[in-house]
Amino acid sequence: MNIHIPRGTEDLLPEQTKTWQIIEDTLKQLSERYHYHEIRTPMFERTELFQRGVGDTTDIVQKEMYTFTDRGGRSLTLRPEGTASVARSYVQNKMHGNPEQPTKLYYLGPMFRYERPQQGRTRQFTQFGIEAIGSADPAIDAEVIAFAMDCYQDLGLKSLKLVLNSLGDHESREAHRQALVDHFKPHEDELCSDCQMRLEQNPLRLLDCKVDQDHPSMQNAPSILDYLNDYSQQYFIDVKKHLDAMGIDYVVDDALVRGLDYYTHTAFEIMSEADGFGSITTLSGGGRYNGLIQDIGGPEISGIGFALSIERLIMALEAEGISLDSEDELDCYVITMGDEAKFAGSKLVYQLRKAGFIVDQDYLDKKMKAQFKAADRYQASYAIVIGESEIEQGVANIKRLEDGEQKTIAIDDVKAQIEQGL
Ligand code: HAM
Repeated sequence: MNIHIPRGTEDLLPEQTKTWQIIEDTLKQLSERYHYHEIRTPMFERTELFQRGVGDTTDIVQKEMYTFTDRGGRSLTLRPEGTASVARSYVQNKMHGNPEQPTKLYYLGPMFRYERPQQGRTRQFTQFGIEAIGSADPAIDAEVIAFAMDCYQDLGLKSLKLVLNSLGDHESREAHRQALVDHFKPHEDELCSDCQMRLEQNPLRLLDCKVDQDHPSMQNAPSILDYLNDYSQQYFIDVKKHLDAMGIDYVVDDALVRGLDYYTHTAFEIMSEADGFGSITTLSGGGRYNGLIQDIGGPEISGIGFALSIERLIMALEAEGISLDSEDELDCYVITMGDEAKFAGSKLVYQLRKAGFIVDQDYLDKKMKAQFKAADRYQASYAIVIGESEIEQGVANIKRLEDGEQKTIAIDDVKAQIEQGL
């Protein structure tokens, strides 16, 4: 029996990885322009990190983690997201001691969540994310949001919607929490068992419930925006003012709560509004986390970040009909006939590659005609032919495939000739 790929994972074949590389290069260039530097953390961490960081009552921690016990009896988890790991590394490596603050980091790599697979939702997916840690200035919230929008706009996407909310500071959240309990308590028996538990542990999570989303009590649930204290209100106003100054459009949606527990103040998501995009329209999300660093044992330092998945970004590109494919084109295809010519061919291919050209040759002992066909298929600029008679004379025939122009020259001069063109 054939062995198949695990459910919720995918192979990326060469015709797809080219697109991925273009996207990854674009995101890395963007990171440089915004002055963020790359961090690479392990693919697995101690389970406790996510329990404390992402939050015990979140779906991610309760239902979606790939957790295993290693041979030493430790509980480890494949990272479901990047922020907790970056925060852990920030604390462990005492990055708050660096003279340049805030610390601006980006990461790119696979994340793992045991979710029900569907279009735009896989069990292994690739996140690109950034974290700016060490500043509580609304201007950096706007920077992170602008960066997130640029990830899509730099690749040509247009049908985007930026949704913004504030979850307030600790005091505002506590006031809102109480209001949520008072509001939902009378309906407790009608809610799903998860929501009954959420009512006790983390009532904000009720607003994110997929089972009870149509329950009438959801319609008039207390809005966090009505519970923001003065500081939180002013913070939100300032973030919006920065975005207005930059000319970045947004809509405020007080129902945006995000699926992770660490958020305070700014929360945002970017959605695709393209026709034909699947039912999951969120492309990326992020926000401010003012308690996370402390929760995992660090100093009282706040941060903000966001993450996108490349899988959903590609879905958005497809929905908007944007193709990033670059052609698979060769500079030279070296065609040989006969044993001696083969050795000369290998040497020439090697020399040309060393000189920086994209070069290939035949490895299946194909006939001359079939080798020419391959050169055409690979859209080679030049076919370089070394047959038995060429070997006797120490020459090679260079043919420019575009117009058939050709020249026979000493094999040793081929590299220089290709460098200057026919
Ligand atoms: P998140 O909203 O859980 O946030 O995930 C961010 C993005 O990852 C989503 O908007 C989506 O594009 C992608 N994503 C999540 N789950 C899947 C999946 N199963 N399949 C495909 N794509 C998926 C976070 O992870 C936060 N760490 C973001 C953040 C960074 N907040 C502050 N800093």
